[in-house]
Amino acid sequence: MSSEKDAAPNMNSLRGFEVIDDIKSQLESVCPQTVSCSDILTIAARDSVVALGGANWTVFLGRRDSLTANQNAANSDLPSPDFDLSTLISAFANKGLSTTDMIALSGAHTIGLSRCSVFQNSIISDTSTKIDSSFAASLQANCSNGVNNSTAPLDTTTPTVFDTKYYQNLMEYKGLLHSDRVLYNNGSADLQVSIYAQNPYQFFTDFITGMIKMGNISVLTGSDGEIRINCRKTN
Ligand code: HEM
Repeated sequence: MSSEKDAAPNMNSLRGFEVIDDIKSQLESVCPQTVSCSDILTIAARDSVVALGGANWTVFLGRRDSLTANQNAANSDLPSPDFDLSTLISAFANKGLSTTDMIALSGAHTIGLSRCSVFQNSIISDTSTKIDSSFAASLQANCSNGVNNSTAPLDTTTPTVFDTKYYQNLMEYKGLLHSDRVLYNNGSADLQVSIYAQNPYQFFTDFITGMIKMGNISVLTGSDGEIRINCRKTN
């Protein structure tokens, strides 16, 4: 089976699978074939947000795991960091997610890293979005001095805290990816970014709405799919 992990946006990018393996093996030993890998991932996403100081919400459960993979869909449907605002809006709309969901969910970039290979070119050649010059210079220095696979935080201020600094950075033109910068670039997303920058409650509320909607996209339930024993492969 051609794996979705090997789709272009995911290749050499996704990490942390050993954490899911560990959770799965502990669950299988106490409660065999009951909790799907899909539910584990959904809960782990919520728990990661909580652990880093962000919002908390109830996760609906009962997802089942796929018997197949669709590498083509992963290649075509995952948004690119080079997308413009209109393309981001339509990529999310294609999955039933609103523009508000898209702007709120992008706030997940308040944590985590990106590889120089992903953002470096756009820092040099992006003429359509504004970028703070000293921020750009420090990114370039970090990438060119770094060893292979150097990374930079998506939120340059508080990369391990789930807060609203991501949006404040966007308003200071310190967005790492083009797809981040287009959210505050004299366009229709500016107002929502400025609201989230100063209102964590509004950001958390809209983020939760988006996460619940995203966690319900194309879910398998009932007798569809299976409960995987090993999250890395079908049974
Ligand atoms: C709006 C469209 C989005 C685009 C274009 C996008 C793109 C990216 C890219 C290119 C990276 C860095 C990958 C690498 O360098 O290997 C990244 C990292 C990340 N993204 Fe997004 N993303 C988007 C939306 C989201 C959403 C909706 C979430 C979750 C709700 C999310 C959560 C994350 C996290 C947590 C990381 C850091 C991962 C790590 O440190 O390992 N992103 N994203």
